[in-house]
Amino acid sequence: MKVLLTGGAGFIGSHTAVALLEAGHEIVALDNLYNSSPEALKRVEEITGKKAPLVVGDCTDEKDLRKVFEQYGHIDAVVHFAGLKAVGESVQKPLDYYQNNLDSTFTLLRVMRMYGCHALVFSSSATVYGTNQEMPLREDFPTGCTSPYGWTKWMNEQVLTDCAHADEKLKVVLLRYFNPIGAHESGRIGEDPAGIPNNLMPFICQVASGKLDHLNVFGSDYPTPDGTGVRDYIHVCDLAEGHVAALEYAMGHAGVEIINLGTGEGYSVLDIVHTFERVNGLKLPYQITARRPGDVAICYSDVTKAERLLHWHAKRNLEAMCRDSWNWQKHNPQGYGK
Ligand code: WQD
Repeated sequence: MKVLLTGGAGFIGSHTAVALLEAGHEIVALDNLYNSSPEALKRVEEITGKKAPLVVGDCTDEKDLRKVFEQYGHIDAVVHFAGLKAVGESVQKPLDYYQNNLDSTFTLLRVMRMYGCHALVFSSSATVYGTNQEMPLREDFPTGCTSPYGWTKWMNEQVLTDCAHADEKLKVVLLRYFNPIGAHESGRIGEDPAGIPNNLMPFICQVASGKLDHLNVFGSDYPTPDGTGVRDYIHVCDLAEGHVAALEYAMGHAGVEIINLGTGEGYSVLDIVHTFERVNGLKLPYQITARRPGDVAICYSDVTKAERLLHWHAKRNLEAMCRDSWNWQKHNPQGYGK
């Protein structure tokens, strides 16, 4: 298959590029480099020994998208990663998030149809499950969001579902990610957030490297074994391999499927802190502070559908996630140094 990765220079996009190339497929990335570096794709080529071309452009721009389809011959499928993704920022700038994250999908669908490309895997998020749910989360559970970012994912799922129902040729898989962390074992690609990280693991890595003074643990009074928030952390390489399986599934199945990509295991913030310390032989200074508004106590995945439909499950454990995260940070203290 030849696969277009929108947002392909990003954290999950670049790891998916490696997994696709290593599975014998071809890729081309379209990325506006708003929150990523072209260096990531150079390193994808270094890791795989294969071509990972990048077109710098915007998924909301029909000209940019058509350039990819014109320049790179027939594209068999698209993985749509491109989008704004900071939960907190989306509350401050809702219009930017709705415009960018929805326009990109509308434009992509139109251009795909122009060029006879009918398979799309969409980067959705467990955030669409909202709050007050029983665990583990299953794909047929009710949904509802707590941020404009989450609503853009939810709305994109609705748009893609309706388009797949209207067009018998369109094949869509909606992947709901849990908490991707870790990095490729080479330490050559990884998560490179702009500014102060919002998410736990990149924040921990910057504390470990001395870039940040200490970790604030957001709340220790949740109804969990140690009182801190519990999440389903999944190694980004497992997530990437899940995308390869989802693409191969999509090529053979019209319609739309929603599939969780998680491990089915929940770990607390302190589980992550202690595992990171043990695996990497260091101490992480932290303070317990107030809960972060909007956080849920517990969130982890029911993984049976991914196994049943994709014959895929996560293989890497929490130790590997902590080791690989630190390996990336240690060797790339300034990220890609953009
Ligand atoms: C994990 C746990 C925090 C930072 C978000 C988005 C989700 C997806 C993944 C995009 C929670 C705690 C965190 C810190 C802390 N993103 N924490 N101190 O909130 O589960 O999910 O990122 O798709 O859509 O909602 O991830 O890494 O921010 O938090 O104590 O400095 O770590 O309270 O329990 P989250 P996270």
